[in-house]
Amino acid sequence: MARLLTNVDAVRARFTALQRDPVFFDGPGGTQVPDSVIEAIGDYLRDANANLGGPFETSQRSDELVALAHETAAGFLNANPDEVAFGQNMTTLNFALSRAAAREWREGDEVVCTELDHDGNVSPWLELAHDKGLAVRLARVDDECRLDLDHLRSLVGRRTRVVAFPWAANSVGTITPVAELAEIAHAAGALAWVDAVHYGPHGPIDAQASGADVVVCSPYKFYGPHLGLAYVRREVAEGWRPYKVRPADSRFETGTLAHELLAGFVAAVEYLDDVGWDFIQEHERGLGQRFLDGLPDGWALHGIPSMDGRVPTFAVTHGRIGVEEAATRLGERGFAVWHGDYYAVEIMKRLGLPDGALRIGIVHYNTAGEVDRLLATLAELAC
Ligand SMILES: Cc1ncc(COP(=O)(O)O)c(C=O)c1O
Repeated sequence: MARLLTNVDAVRARFTALQRDPVFFDGPGGTQVPDSVIEAIGDYLRDANANLGGPFETSQRSDELVALAHETAAGFLNANPDEVAFGQNMTTLNFALSRAAAREWREGDEVVCTELDHDGNVSPWLELAHDKGLAVRLARVDDECRLDLDHLRSLVGRRTRVVAFPWAANSVGTITPVAELAEIAHAAGALAWVDAVHYGPHGPIDAQASGADVVVCSPYKFYGPHLGLAYVRREVAEGWRPYKVRPADSRFETGTLAHELLAGFVAAVEYLDDVGWDFIQEHERGLGQRFLDGLPDGWALHGIPSMDGRVPTFAVTHGRIGVEEAATRLGERGFAVWHGDYYAVEIMKRLGLPDGALRIGIVHYNTAGEVDRLLATLAELAC
């Protein structure tokens, strides 16, 4: 497909939000949205706002939109439309799906999570463990925050029902070997349950090729509105008894969806098609390398020190400046960055960082100039 957007200036021109300060390095908490997404949401509310299934124009347009959103999600995830479900956000979907999965589980069943997980892929299992007497085990990472596959393998056994892991870590940026992990899970008769929220803006999510049984993500992390999106492999979903109302067709979408946000989601995927993953990945890799090469003295990077096996999300700390102070001073100088654990509770324990780290989240709409300004400001803060 011929791409419409082939350089960062053309990309940025699509976002009114990027025509002003601050410099957005807060993408892992949610990206800015292109104007086309905002317009699609407004257009739906103006021209087609209705509930589904009525014999009148706005309702028929809503039916069409909901079908289109499912087809678009299926295309985005390389799945079938009946394998995708929208929800409020990833966390809400994950609590609901984990409960449906575990209805028949017994005391002593086990779930394996990882130290790289966001709590949205840990606490649903901990709460189930509380209710049902399950055991939740944590696979470790090595000193560069890569998943220790031998350790993970040693935790997976006869009672393992789910191996839950992130496609990429929202804390230190590590990418995991998704297909290999899915094989490890399947070899033990367990489900592979993948949190793709952080990977979403950085690369294509091919649910079928990944071998995963469940993949959850959040369109607001990849240029869309505040929504969650899940893939559940058909054969797996058919084996669960979902929590649903009897008249509803959907197994996992409870109640009326935010139709206007589905319109925004479709526009976000169209935007991504205009850019293409090739540009996104090449540009992000260049910016990530620039950040790594230029990180000033005194700042410690936690995680993989190259761009291989990671996305450009960097957790850094400074010996003399607390992370809250650093984020606040950056905020005063016009940079949006996060600090703390960003709900990645376990990795911060593993790294011995009770206050967490400063997170620099680079996405494809950032520029080399922005990275240079940030590096210069980090150097200045350290003086
Ligand atoms: C890796 C990861 N998983 C899960 C979540 C939770 O997503 P949501 O806000 O859609 O519940 C986040 C949010 O930051 C995340 O980064």
